[in-house]
Formats: sequence, structure tokens, C-alpha cells
Amino acid sequence: MKQVYSGKTKDVYELENGHYLLKFKDDVTGEDGVFDPGANTVGLSIEGAGKAGLKVTQFFFEKFKEKNIPTHYVDANVDSREMTVVPATVFGEGLEVICRFRAVGSFLRRYGKYAEEGQQLDAFVEVTLKDDERGDPPISRDALDMLGILSQEEYEELKSLTKEISHTVKEELAKKGMELYDIKLEFGRDADHRIILIDEISGGNMRVYKDGEYIHPLELEKLLLDSSSVK
Ligand SMILES: Nc1ncnc2c1ncn2[C@@H]1O[C@H](COP(=O)(O)OP(=O)(O)O)[C@@H](O)[C@H]1O
Ligand SMILES: [Mg+2]
Repeated sequence: MKQVYSGKTKDVYELENGHYLLKFKDDVTGEDGVFDPGANTVGLSIEGAGKAGLKVTQFFFEKFKEKNIPTHYVDANVDSREMTVVPATVFGEGLEVICRFRAVGSFLRRYGKYAEEGQQLDAFVEVTLKDDERGDPPISRDALDMLGILSQEEYEELKSLTKEISHTVKEELAKKGMELYDIKLEFGRDADHRIILIDEISGGNMRVYKDGEYIHPLELEKLLLDSSSVK
């Protein structure tokens, strides 16, 4: 098994059959020891975070499979914190696609002059470059096209996939009395050049609230998957 990448929250290995193996770590992003899904640095290590992240990821990728949404998912083993996926080529050096249902986080920091905290945003889609050095700058559709990262047609496809995926997540959370405020997705191209959802979909990639209170990623796993918490 060859290691191809060591990320902030996962290690990536190449398997003999060409699949990739994502090994979930207990490291989470944040700053100064405080968890923040929007942060670009590993802030702290929380025991059980890797397992919780993979459980939630497995849950959502199985839902996407039922809906025929194209993803990299093959299977997952929660006990060993491993997920097998189809390798993908990312756009440029990687993009993050954000879908917003309410104004919080970096949206509010940027547009606070015109938006109120918590304001409804109706599945607003934004793209940022994965560029830790430059603080993941937002990038427009025209700039993506001009810089040869993503064509106008691909942008449209990415946007509609993002809305479908984010609405699916939102609906599943709503079944447990939770509300999705925003979510971060990653996409790539598979060997047939199809755009597929990659990476993970866990509490660490989204902001979720319940009765107006922010839900911590580890708490989200319990509320979403504990049968005892079904409302
Ligand atoms: N199917 C895939 N093919 C190729 N790369 C992938 C795939 N799924 C996830 N990745 C990449 O693997 C890395 C996972 O590790 P992670 O700790 O999340 O990294 P990062 O610190 O870049 O966020 C990410 O860079 C992500 O883009
Ligand atoms: Mg990541």
C-alpha cells in the first residue's frame, strides 16, 4: 500500500487494484485548540473524531448511491477508519464548493455590510480554491474558465450537483430536527472524465444547528445515527 498524500484530517493510500484508501484521523481543523470546520489548520485532536466522521460520511454516500448521484465511494470500514474510493483528478490543485442555506461564517465576514447573520440564502453556491497559503480565496465562474481550471459547462454541472447533494444532506438532517446552514463539498473527474463527488461528508464539513444552537460534529453523529434519538 503506497501513501500518496497526508492531509489535515485523512491519509490517502493507493491500493493494488488502483482504488484509493482514505484513512480517517482523529485530527480536526480549528485554531488555538477550538474546532472550526472552516479553518485551514489542524487545531486539535479529538478521540473518536475519525470514526464519527467516517460513520457520517458512509451514511451520506450510501444515500447518494440510492439517488444515483455520481461519487467516488466504493465501501467503508468504520472500525478501521478506512474508506475505499475511486481515484479522481481534482480541478486545478483542488476546489472547495460551498452551498449556503443561511448567512454565517466567511460569507458573513465578507458580505456583512449587506447580509444579516442567519439570513436565508436558498442554496447559494460559491467556489473557493484549495490554497491554504492564500486562505482559500473565492473564485468566480469566469475566473475558473479563464484560468483553465473549470469550463463554463462544467461549472453548471458542478453547481447543479452541489445543490442536489446539499439538499439531500439538508433533508436527512431535518428528519432528526436539525438544520443545515452551510456545507463544503469537493469534486473531481474520474477515469471517464465524469464529474464525481469526492472526499468526505461529515460534521467537519458543515454547520448544523438545532433549535438555534450550533451542533458540534461529534454531537451531530449521535443525533443523526443514534436510533434512540429519532424524533
Ligand atoms: N477520490 C479521490 N481522489 C483523489 N483525491 C481525493 C479523493 N477523495 C479525496 N481526495 C483528496 O484527499 C485528501 C484527503 O485528505 P484531507 O486530510 O481531507 O486533506 P486536506 O488537508 O487537503 O483537506 C484531500 O486533499 C482530498 O481532496
Ligand atoms: Mg480535507
